[in-house]
Amino acid sequence: MSFGLSSLPYELTALAPHMSAETLEIHHGRHHKSYVDTLNKLVEGKPEAGQDLETLIVSSEGAIFNNAAQIWNHDFFWKCMKPRGGGRPDGRLAEMMTEAFGSFDRFASEFSEAAVGQFGSGWAWLVLNKGKLAIRKTADADLPLRYDEQALLTIDVWEHAYYIDHRNLRPRYVKTFLGNLVNWDFALENLNRASQADRASRTDRWPQAAGSQLIA
Ligand SMILES: [Fe+2]
Repeated sequence: MSFGLSSLPYELTALAPHMSAETLEIHHGRHHKSYVDTLNKLVEGKPEAGQDLETLIVSSEGAIFNNAAQIWNHDFFWKCMKPRGGGRPDGRLAEMMTEAFGSFDRFASEFSEAAVGQFGSGWAWLVLNKGKLAIRKTADADLPLRYDEQALLTIDVWEHAYYIDHRNLRPRYVKTFLGNLVNWDFALENLNRASQADRASRTDRWPQAAGSQLIA
């Protein structure tokens, strides 16, 4: 058994002009693919080759963890965007956002701050922790799964995600993501799934993770 490269949930040109086909082609076809190819080489002939991706992520470290987690992160990230995305969530997600952050605008501000403020490569997340929404940022390949939190939404803030379209202007990329790309339907689906499976909070584990910070 080997790990595969998932297809994008839309055409390469579907997110333009907010995210170009060139960005998607290189990000998915080269960066994401290289994590898949590298992981397959690392686990070849080993028991890990037969594990599912999430089991591998929570039980590994080093290069295997990094590549496995980056596959999971990218599979998830592609679904966090859609053509004609952006705007505000509604329904239960909107209510919970107001409860957790005070308003959507406050959420957007804190999420942007986390995404822009992540030093170096990493991810910003909207997660469900003990029935409540929270924002996290993680370094490199790190992800909420390691902390028993359910990811609802993420933005990739590695430079490869935005350099072609925005050069070094990460704030402009984050603004474009929230304004024109974010897929709130996917976040709501994740919320509905996660609500049933939400486990006990493990936030006390966050400070132990190098480079990962509890934001709210
Ligand atoms: Fe990426």
